[in-house]
Amino acid sequence: MRHRCAILTISDRGSRGEREDLSGPALKTILENHGAFEIAAEGIVSDDPEGISRKLIAWCDRGDLALILTTGGTGFAPRDLAPEATTAVIERPAPGFAEAMRAASLKITPHAMISRAVAGIRASTLIINFPGSPKAARECLEVVLPALPHALEKLAGDPSDCGQ
Ligand code: MTE
Repeated sequence: MRHRCAILTISDRGSRGEREDLSGPALKTILENHGAFEIAAEGIVSDDPEGISRKLIAWCDRGDLALILTTGGTGFAPRDLAPEATTAVIERPAPGFAEAMRAASLKITPHAMISRAVAGIRASTLIINFPGSPKAARECLEVVLPALPHALEKLAGDPSDCGQ
């Protein structure tokens, strides 16, 4: 079974067409090459937190998306509010993904600790924040990728015992 995914780029300049979105396509390429995922939606929104939350809710309400990756807006700049916009819509936090990304990323750069990315579940959709640079987004997705198929099978209701 292929898991249906959506990728949301969060960027003021990107949403105005002033900067080419390279991080969304970077995430998309990794998922497409993996084989267990299919891209069912892509979008770009500004850093406005209400707009981000609205988009996340609309995508979760579709009911067919197992996973939403966001990229951008996780740092310390005044308009970096992706974690707040995500926290506002999730029902069950899934902190392990952000913990793993930061732990692995710290081996690459001390700047990893600046990302405030969060992850969590709304209804039957897992949402994970990624940093905004294509390099950082790629590095972080490679960290969580091995756990995603099992996570999404469990989220979809797979009743089998783990570790069999
Ligand atoms: N994580 C990895 N793996 N590699 C990186 O180069 N860059 C960091 C961090 N996480 C980085 C990373 C930097 S420089 C910043 S400012 C934060 O992510 C937040 O990025 P964002 O505001 O674009 O989301």
